[in-house]
Amino acid sequence: VILTQDELKKIAAYKAVEYVESGMVLGLGTGSTAKHAVDRIGELLHQGKLQNIVGIPTSKKTHEQALSVGIPLSDLDSHPVLDLAIDGADEVDPQLNLVKGRGGSLLREKMVEGACRKFVVIVDESKLVKHLGGSGLAMPVEIVPFCWKFTAKRLQDLFEDAGCVGKLRTFGENGEPFVTDNGNYIVDLYFKKDIGDLKAASDTILQLAGVVEHGMFLDMATTVIVASELGITVKNK
Ligand code: A5P
Repeated sequence: VILTQDELKKIAAYKAVEYVESGMVLGLGTGSTAKHAVDRIGELLHQGKLQNIVGIPTSKKTHEQALSVGIPLSDLDSHPVLDLAIDGADEVDPQLNLVKGRGGSLLREKMVEGACRKFVVIVDESKLVKHLGGSGLAMPVEIVPFCWKFTAKRLQDLFEDAGCVGKLRTFGENGEPFVTDNGNYIVDLYFKKDIGDLKAASDTILQLAGVVEHGMFLDMATTVIVASELGITVKNK
């Protein structure tokens, strides 16, 4: 049998939900992989196999989905420390560093997942990379809309040596700017060459006024569950 990518995502998600115990405060991720985990948690609550779960959603979309499957919700103000978060990722490197945010939810994801004792990442094998940002795919940066071209240009200039090109994320036929749950824009950075030291790149981006957050999640994942045709691999930090 050949499994579809969505079936692999579901296998990883169901495996991650095995880490969930009754009474936990849970970070609920965003995206097509995390969606399966949220559905599964709702199902187990409904069956009475899980009880007293509190979910902290990482986006408006997940908030709605979680409510629709009956997961009681709260926020970081009321629950500053979470037991566990489950979320997908766009890229995972061998040290379990991640790129996230191609769905646009990086800021809330980073806030919620940074407050968790355990952060379980669920991916199909297509997300595994040697170097973050090296796959020619987007490295998302959330920026304030005020003079976004100025900020996008400054971001691009920071990584001139790596052949960086920054593009405003848009949607629809008219190329409207994509607006995040926090009312901000996203600039996707594309690199022609390796960006080198990730921590240094992270610090430089965050120092720029106008930048809210970026999609590199360094040293945050405690476990990564990878689903492939051959089965499930669990990588621990
Ligand atoms: C949302 O902004 C992202 O960080 C997602 O978690 C990430 O893009 C993975 O999404 P998929 O599971 O849909 O690939």
